[in-house]
Amino acid sequence: PNQPPVVFHWFPFLGSTVVYGMEPYKFFNKCQEQYGDVFTFVLLGRKMTVTLGPKGNEFVFNGKHADLCAEEAYTHLTTPVFGSGVVYDCPNHMLMEQKKFMKFGLTTETFKAYVPLIKDEVVNYFQTSPFFNGQSGKVPLSTAIPQLTLFTASRSLQGREVREALTTTHADLFHDLDMGFTPVNFMFPWLPLPHNAKRDKAQKAMAKLYLDIIARRKSGEESKKEIDMIWNLMNRSYKSGESLSDLHVAHCMIALLMAGQHTSMATTTWTLLHLAAKPEIQKALYDEQIKVFGKDLAPLTYEKLSELQMVSNVVKEILRIHPPLHSIMRKVKSPLHVPDTNFVIPTTHFVMAAPGVSAMDEKYFKNAKEFDPFRWVGHEADEDNAEKFDFGFGLVSKGTASPYLPFGAGRHRCIGEQFANVQLGTIISTLVREFEFSLPPGQKDVPLVDYNSMVALATAPAMVHWKRRGG
Ligand code: HEM
Repeated sequence: PNQPPVVFHWFPFLGSTVVYGMEPYKFFNKCQEQYGDVFTFVLLGRKMTVTLGPKGNEFVFNGKHADLCAEEAYTHLTTPVFGSGVVYDCPNHMLMEQKKFMKFGLTTETFKAYVPLIKDEVVNYFQTSPFFNGQSGKVPLSTAIPQLTLFTASRSLQGREVREALTTTHADLFHDLDMGFTPVNFMFPWLPLPHNAKRDKAQKAMAKLYLDIIARRKSGEESKKEIDMIWNLMNRSYKSGESLSDLHVAHCMIALLMAGQHTSMATTTWTLLHLAAKPEIQKALYDEQIKVFGKDLAPLTYEKLSELQMVSNVVKEILRIHPPLHSIMRKVKSPLHVPDTNFVIPTTHFVMAAPGVSAMDEKYFKNAKEFDPFRWVGHEADEDNAEKFDFGFGLVSKGTASPYLPFGAGRHRCIGEQFANVQLGTIISTLVREFEFSLPPGQKDVPLVDYNSMVALATAPAMVHWKRRGG
């Protein structure tokens, strides 16, 4: 058996780090052309074997835990930020249980309560933000959208107390913690960089915020009982009978905050940019609001949100062109044969999936580069393999050999998809009701992608112009 071809490079340790880091998709496409769907490149001394295409996606996402391990690939980055004992700092079977606990807090009941809360946050944001003064203006999305997604997610999923803390006492702490959530920490989490010292201090302070909330709730000091994710996690226990400790509740909450914040922020930003570039899509969204809510635009509700097919198609299409996570990694734990090839990947390697490559491949999507939400019309059920995965052990879902997997698949699949849809759908609907957006005069297309962050962001300031509807 052979090992996959190694991408040519001049310097042993550096390998392809720079080309990959600057423009991962350009790098993947070029290598695919030259070496095929399976190849190995050197990323700061680590051997990364990339497997592209729907089959490559399936190979990584549906790998058995005994063969492919996520925690060894991610823990350096996530553990200093989330805190110890959860997610990638515990055995995989505990993560599976933690994900199940989190899912208890992501039910239809909670979503119904979240929609008006999120809407209120959006309205409050544009009523108080200096970027939305007057009848028209411009807004730097790289500043505004992180605030908007943080406020909406914290008010709903994180709970009222966290929302309050994040605008007042803890705003800077969140920023410091967030600065520690950067790709450089994949490889050098221990570097004595100033941002890492701040990160470690911020992690403790953020955990304390949650611990204090939990303590107040336990002491019965909180008069009104909040049924939210903190409450949910406080009431869960592992199969072993052990309950989730207060510290682990706190760390799970930080993990949820981080996982949701970056992905939603990037998705909302790209949505507004593409809408600004295509007024006809804004019109389709507005027409749909009128159709579903009547011409007086009745208040948004969770039930009605699910009727907004155009909103859902826009989000799907944004996640096709701009999946926030471009590289999914696992450490190889036993020599692995790549199906349909004669390659065997040794245990010294990591594997990497990049479902964004197949999602932009002409083979699967006509005019793949074009932002066209209408391409999803009539395919509404296609991506519904989501819920088929159960959190049993070693079970894998069928139908993961898909070219389109922005939420992943298999045992590590995202649990936040529905929450993200609720959050994004409410934000988009609320903004479309109020504003029309356009790109700055003279700017033809959306900004370039900035890959220097955890997620594929728009290059700052990602400006859009707005005017009030009917104004
Ligand atoms: C896992 C994408 C929003 C929580 C994942 C994975 C992807 C993903 C691709 C798989 C990672 C892997 O296999 O290594 C997204 C996208 C989002 C989003 C595109 C929004 C547009 C959220 C939100 C939450 C969340 C809002 C929390 C409420 C998680 C968790 C995991 C996960 C807990 C599991 C990690 C694991 O099992 O290893 N997400 N996510 N995500 N996501 Fe999301």
